[in-house]
Amino acid sequence: MSKRKAIIAHCRALNSSGLNQGTSGNISIRHQDGMLISPTSRPYDSLQPEDIAFVDQNGKATGKFAPSSEWHFHLDILLQRPDVNAVVHAHPTYCTTLAIMGKEIPPIHYMIAAFGGATIRCAPYEIYGTAALSKVAVAALEGRKGCLLAHHGMITVGQSIEQAFWLAGELEALARQYHGCLVLGEPPLLSDEQIEEVLEKISGYGQNHSS
Ligand code: 13P
Repeated sequence: MSKRKAIIAHCRALNSSGLNQGTSGNISIRHQDGMLISPTSRPYDSLQPEDIAFVDQNGKATGKFAPSSEWHFHLDILLQRPDVNAVVHAHPTYCTTLAIMGKEIPPIHYMIAAFGGATIRCAPYEIYGTAALSKVAVAALEGRKGCLLAHHGMITVGQSIEQAFWLAGELEALARQYHGCLVLGEPPLLSDEQIEEVLEKISGYGQNHSS
């Protein structure tokens, strides 16, 4: 599948999976010296490959439609994180609920290690579509593959669009679990040692066939 088609397919999957609504999500994939990114405010169902915008490393956009209003953080993440090839941003209900409350997600479940550490940080509020938001988002993602954005939503990143999208679902699951815990009280947490142990183990997770 071409990168343009992959962006469209995953934008549609964001909404059909219940992770997002309307056009409040956006997806980018590293391309040449910049990125391909979903256009701002265009309904995902009507998107065609030629509607996907290109933004170069200097922030210069080309294409039929203007790029997502969140192109700043998509581009900054891709430029500053050589380990990342795709970025997913959305407003999933439970991630956004925690982000409104300014809560980071603590180590309640071992799957948090799939994001690279013991916590999912919550970046402080900055208005959408700005370089200021990009700065706090990049900082919250340091050493991580996901973060929350206060009063806004979440970001996940991956080596591929498939990985970034998978992590978007895992992040919403963690947020939902943490929300459920908070309803019942303050949850017990995994220790630093337990998280270290999972971090080591999870790096080898997957099908490692030596064909
Ligand atoms: P788009 O500009 O990609 O439509 O996104 C809107 C939005 O909600 C960004 O946070």
